[in-house]
Amino acid sequence: MASPGETRQRPRWWAGAVGYEIYIRSFNDASGDGIGDLEGLRRRLAYLADLGVDYLWITPFYPSPQADHGYDVADYTDVDPVYGTLADFDGVVRDAHALGLRVIIDIVPNHTSNQHPWFRDAVTSRHADKRGYYVWRAPAPDGGPPNNWVSKFGGPAWTLHEATGQYYMHTFLPEQPDLNWSSVQVLDEFDAILRFWLDRGVDGFRVDTAHLLTEDPHYRDNPQRTRPPESADPETVYHSFEHRFDLDQPDVLDVYRRWHRILQPYNAMLLGEVYLLQPTRVLRYVVDDALDLAFYFPTLKATWNAASIRDALVPAASISQQRFAWPLSSHDDPRATQRFGGGPVGARRALAYLTLLSGLPGSPCLLQGDELGLHADDLPSEHLQDPIATRNSGTGGRDRSRTPMPWSARHGYGFTTGTPWMPFPSDASAADPVATQRRDHGSPLHRTRRLLTLRRQLRDLHGDTPLHWLNRRGPVIAYQRGTTVVALNTADRSQVLDTGGTDVDVRYASEGTVTVVGGRLHLPPDTAAIATRCP
Ligand code: GLC
Repeated sequence: MASPGETRQRPRWWAGAVGYEIYIRSFNDASGDGIGDLEGLRRRLAYLADLGVDYLWITPFYPSPQADHGYDVADYTDVDPVYGTLADFDGVVRDAHALGLRVIIDIVPNHTSNQHPWFRDAVTSRHADKRGYYVWRAPAPDGGPPNNWVSKFGGPAWTLHEATGQYYMHTFLPEQPDLNWSSVQVLDEFDAILRFWLDRGVDGFRVDTAHLLTEDPHYRDNPQRTRPPESADPETVYHSFEHRFDLDQPDVLDVYRRWHRILQPYNAMLLGEVYLLQPTRVLRYVVDDALDLAFYFPTLKATWNAASIRDALVPAASISQQRFAWPLSSHDDPRATQRFGGGPVGARRALAYLTLLSGLPGSPCLLQGDELGLHADDLPSEHLQDPIATRNSGTGGRDRSRTPMPWSARHGYGFTTGTPWMPFPSDASAADPVATQRRDHGSPLHRTRRLLTLRRQLRDLHGDTPLHWLNRRGPVIAYQRGTTVVALNTADRSQVLDTGGTDVDVRYASEGTVTVVGGRLHLPPDTAAIATRCP
């Protein structure tokens, strides 16, 4: 591993780097209150360095009422006591760098908490100092919301502030008022916030909801595509509109151009959560003077089917120019294990899929626990915490992807000595904690580590070598980069792939044994392999 001095100098260090999402509440609890914290994370950094990831993205740890588990920030330049102190944060950065790991943190610019001092001031009067930090509109003539925009978490995107007679906008909860990015003061505030963390040594930011910051200046109604029934869930309602005016506006890049200039002297990066499903729309954000990387979320939408995986990856991989981050799972979506069938089958497929993602040009990204094949059962309704579930019908929500990490077989699975804030994943999954998997060389943990180690050795896979798809049809998805071939068999029977070469060496199998005979790879079901050909 490169020494931190060396790694910190490498320009564009993020190109081809492997990311790992730390969902801080559920990673490791050092204080014993049942909630993960920064000191808990610091104690597990060696595990992450050993796993072979390059950078950590830590979800929000700022002071927050936790209406949306930290994505409702009440102070952008401090640490919530639940997660520790600024000194604990410095300890994470220092130790991570000493291990050759980089640290990026979540910045949440679209909205604050309604408890943020800015909003508390803004509601005092129409002439308040910070009124213009937020998006205020007069009621419609009938007294209702100013337009038809809806919140992602249910109901209108507007709440009337009765005392001052105007509506404020919130793309998420009413407790998460949207900031007004046409305000010069807001721009200045965030410049200072970025510098605050850069000066503390962070290597970049994951920009929350990067495509949502700005809106149509005329606040026009969004065209409605379908009319869902009254009882429809928030997601269905949200997607019944064409979001022409409330997201992905032309001027949003101006913000990132400005930030880019701030980050450049620090050699730090911006990774955007650009939740748009068309590759060309995402690509607009990742240009030399704006975002460095953007998550490409269709990877999370693919089902276990070759056509669906091709649809998700092929159009994007050809244009990504090492600028897409390919998530295997995220704290907002069902885990790969769950999407691909759950249990041991889901775990096996998830690792095979990670193998395929790992060789694409760009940055594969794991959610904590992916390396264990972690999978959570449905949670009983009394344990649901996500506002999407608790504020609506009590079903759905994102909790299953947020269960605590099982570290050992001890009480509290080595995650906490207290009562965990959320139940552990299914027994079967938690019964295979890190400590157990470490002793088993066939475990998902070891296989993930071998995959990441090999990827680091093969320049073809983490560099800018062009990618060619080897076959466009059938259950095997395969591509070649330089002399390296990556292949995934999605079928429930063994399949053969002709690599077109003769001198082929299998370097990695996500499961079982992959053999090669005369340049033909024999792939067991639900398995991926990496092979190299003699040039
Ligand atoms: C992002 C976060 C998600 C949060 C939302 C609102 O999508 O990943 O967890 O609820 O933004 O901040």
